[in-house]
Amino acid sequence: MRVLFVCLGNICRSPAGEAVMKSLLRQHALDQSIIVDSAGTADYHSGEEPDTRMRQALSERGYTDWSPARQVQNQDFEDFDWIIAMDQQNLRQLQSICPDNRHLKKIRLASDFLSRHPHKEIPDPYYGTKDDFELVIQLAEDFCQGIIQTLKAIK
Ligand code: 4NP
Repeated sequence: MRVLFVCLGNICRSPAGEAVMKSLLRQHALDQSIIVDSAGTADYHSGEEPDTRMRQALSERGYTDWSPARQVQNQDFEDFDWIIAMDQQNLRQLQSICPDNRHLKKIRLASDFLSRHPHKEIPDPYYGTKDDFELVIQLAEDFCQGIIQTLKAIK
């Protein structure tokens, strides 16, 4: 099983999803069976580490397993089983670039897996404050738990 988290720049929200998910999967002893990566719909930041503010917020909580930014590629729609968009704009963009209609059902919204927050999207923290970055991590902890419960139920 392969899960790809996607936001716009791949330096704030989707690396947070990736780092939190990898940590939770290790706790659930699922890190060998579920592969996790992240990507951006844009290539503004390709090759960069996550935003310093996000790295700081993640590290403070013990999450350190992220990867450099890259843009979503056609091959991702073949390689991944679930492609999880952080907001409606990412969802629509992924649907529009999806190279094969058979793969459209792989594209899901992260907020669909939240159980402790009412949010309909994961808000972009890029122009925000430290609190906005911390909220993204809290939301990621919530939706990653939801994804793991769902994966366990269908396994
Ligand atoms: P992300 O946040 O999509 O969560 O990585 C953003 C990062 C960069 C930009 C916008 C959002 N940007 O405009 O460069």
